[in-house]
Amino acid sequence: MMTPEPLPDVRQLLAFYLEAGVDCALADEPINRLVEPEPIPSAAAPAARAAASQIGKPGGPAIVPPRGEPPPPPDAAIASAREAALTAPTLEALRDLLEKFDGCALKQTATRLVFADGNPQARIMLVGEAPGRDEDIEGLPFVGRSGKLLDRMIGAIGLDRSKVYIANVIPWRPPGNRTPTPQETQICLPFIRRQIELVDPDVLVTLGNPSTQALLGTTEGIMRVRGKWRDYDTGKRTIRAIATFHPAYLLRSPSYKRLSWQDLRAIATVLAV
Ligand code: URA
Repeated sequence: MMTPEPLPDVRQLLAFYLEAGVDCALADEPINRLVEPEPIPSAAAPAARAAASQIGKPGGPAIVPPRGEPPPPPDAAIASAREAALTAPTLEALRDLLEKFDGCALKQTATRLVFADGNPQARIMLVGEAPGRDEDIEGLPFVGRSGKLLDRMIGAIGLDRSKVYIANVIPWRPPGNRTPTPQETQICLPFIRRQIELVDPDVLVTLGNPSTQALLGTTEGIMRVRGKWRDYDTGKRTIRAIATFHPAYLLRSPSYKRLSWQDLRAIATVLAV
């Protein structure tokens, strides 16, 4: 007869979770995600769409649902984000708006908003995907291991954080650093677009595939799209944009640092003009 495996103790179980990237509890009670959600009655759909178009308008629904209520459905949240982002006249106003915006569920699990770092007057803006654990703790983008490499990368072309502006497409850490869902990206997109418009850099650098696809509308992999100049319409004017590798990717695949150096030199050349 086979002897059954001994059950893991709590310490072994936690070690297993940590290794799998599960490093924070999202709620006090477990949630059974295999249970079918209650269907939304289809008769309510037109009303929800109509309500979404009124969000943020005088007399329309507020962009902040009352505490404890679930975030609005994605369509409404995207519409709400679009309207809200357009109303922010300054970076400070945009930051305040994001602090109050409850349309993205990631906010509920993140410790804090990670808005930006660097100089809002910079001629170059770098945009990553989403904050990780260190960024979530400090409230600043790219402060962990990949941030240290990013500092060395920009340092190689004579820049530091006082000469660049850094942000992410998603300003809240996805739990356990999971990949943001397409809906989460769509909800956050109007805010980062407005942030780019308000910073108004001469050069936009997207770091890695998710940020490149979200902002530059590419569909191919980073290997094909990196290093090529594109136009980016900020809404105010057309600026130059370029994609390069995400520093976290370079930490895993250092042999691509050679290509990333080419991208950095191309950026330095454009900035020198
Ligand atoms: N990776 C990102 O894309 N952004 C950060 O801020 C940190 C790591």
